[in-house]
Amino acid sequence: MDWGLKNRLNRIIRPGDGRTVMLAVDHGYFMGPTSGLDDFRKTINPLLPYADTVMLTRGALRNYIPPDCETPVVLRVSGGTSILSKELLREGSIVTMEDALRLNVAGVAFSILVGADFERDTLLEFTRWCDDCQKYGVPMVAVTAVGKEMVRDEKYMSLASRIAAELGAHIVKTYFVDGFERLVEKVPVPVVIAGGKKLPEPEALRMTAQALHAGAVGVDMGRNIFQAEDPVSMIKAVRAVVHEKHTPEEAFKLYNELRKKGH
Ligand code: 5RP
Repeated sequence: MDWGLKNRLNRIIRPGDGRTVMLAVDHGYFMGPTSGLDDFRKTINPLLPYADTVMLTRGALRNYIPPDCETPVVLRVSGGTSILSKELLREGSIVTMEDALRLNVAGVAFSILVGADFERDTLLEFTRWCDDCQKYGVPMVAVTAVGKEMVRDEKYMSLASRIAAELGAHIVKTYFVDGFERLVEKVPVPVVIAGGKKLPEPEALRMTAQALHAGAVGVDMGRNIFQAEDPVSMIKAVRAVVHEKHTPEEAFKLYNELRKKGH
């Protein structure tokens, strides 16, 4: 593997333990104002020292993140539709590789929608990005989006994740489902889980631990961190599960202790 690609991958997945806590704060690209991200600087910037990587749009990066930020960036490069659209997940490119490189990214993220009428559009545009990623040594994080009408089960997630890897993804972000270990077995690149809708904190920590146990290398988590009652304590608790092998119970205890003392 090319040195640049390897170097950037090491900025996303920690070489020490091969794990990662990616902080996903890209929701505005299709949701606009999002609870927890409205006052982005106030909520998100204090989380950055505890994130191995932050995943966001170029607009959020330029407007909210100071250039001396040391947290590596995974840039969202697909989008172009909104929650008001009938074809919400029919995403195309929203940035060029040239701009991504100018922003000094550690990686890029592109959502694909397998099984939709328009799957060919997202898959071919994704593949074009994978070509650029190889050319410039930039890791591609494929996000397996799921349409409302699709069943979120191991069979579907494995199908979408394996296709993403076959087409050129370096990392796959997908949803945690029962039988996740079978998905991980079938996907030849590191897998991280999305957090999904906000869950009670103990459940989000349990899901994280189960995903790691099943072979995921970490999380690319958003709402379950920044919509937690205490986001800084929550990201520290997630880190404890991912990097320090805490059980979910130990991590929730840590969360409560940190909350009490104002993290
Ligand atoms: C959509 C995305 C999101 O914008 C985001 O990254 C999801 O994070 P979470 O579900 O943990 O809030 O990838 O497919």
